[in-house]
Amino acid sequence: MRKKIVAGNWKMNTTLAEGVELAKGITEQINDISKGVSLIVAPPFTHLAIIAQMLKGTPVAVSAQNCADQPKGAFTGEVSAAMLKSVGCTYTILGHSERREYYGETSEKLVKKMALAFENGLKVIFCVGEKLEERNEGNHFDVVAAQISEVLFGLEPQQMKNVIVAYEPVWAIGTGVTATDEQAQEMHSYIRKTLAAHFGEEIADETSILYGGSCKPSNAKKLSSCPDIDGGLIGGASLKAEDFIAIAKAW
Ligand code: PGA
Repeated sequence: MRKKIVAGNWKMNTTLAEGVELAKGITEQINDISKGVSLIVAPPFTHLAIIAQMLKGTPVAVSAQNCADQPKGAFTGEVSAAMLKSVGCTYTILGHSERREYYGETSEKLVKKMALAFENGLKVIFCVGEKLEERNEGNHFDVVAAQISEVLFGLEPQQMKNVIVAYEPVWAIGTGVTATDEQAQEMHSYIRKTLAAHFGEEIADETSILYGGSCKPSNAKKLSSCPDIDGGLIGGASLKAEDFIAIAKAW
């Protein structure tokens, strides 16, 4: 049985004090969540060491939002996978559409980042998703298939055990417009078939595929009832402990 996972991507939000408060709020309500659902939070880099320390021994895992495509050295402003591991992260998000769009994150870079994440014992939340014009042109399946094949198809099958896929249609991120449960399920099922064609049914069946894009307490139940939607990657609504917990309760 694949895992159900609800992850909070805090993006560039919260001061350290606010982030600590948010993490505290989540742990205080953790007992409300079904034991079958795993929680992950992805605070900004500056908060990771402290929040990982706080959450040690709780069921909430800590993720970074990105990592460098180089192991170490003269790369001013970058944060390596080894550094993330050393402060208690167990995951990193890679390939978020905001990284792809604003920071030139290509599949080529993502291949390097993923290799470094694995070398350092991090698991990866790998994001894919089409832009509005790509969906309007009917290219959404091809775009997502290319994002998957360019990065994930280079992995060994057993490395897929350390990958969570997040489908995040760009037009739904932070816009308040959520994909309908039919649109999301259709793409999740397509992603699973794409993984199955390359890695085999067993690995595809075990891979958790999360939905992201304006997921909130009011629409989480519908999304969670879809057979191929194994959880959520939550942006805006993860900044309020109650909303994040309410979404997690839906799964
Ligand atoms: P959103 O962001 O929930 O604010 O739409 C999701 C994400 O980008 O991970």
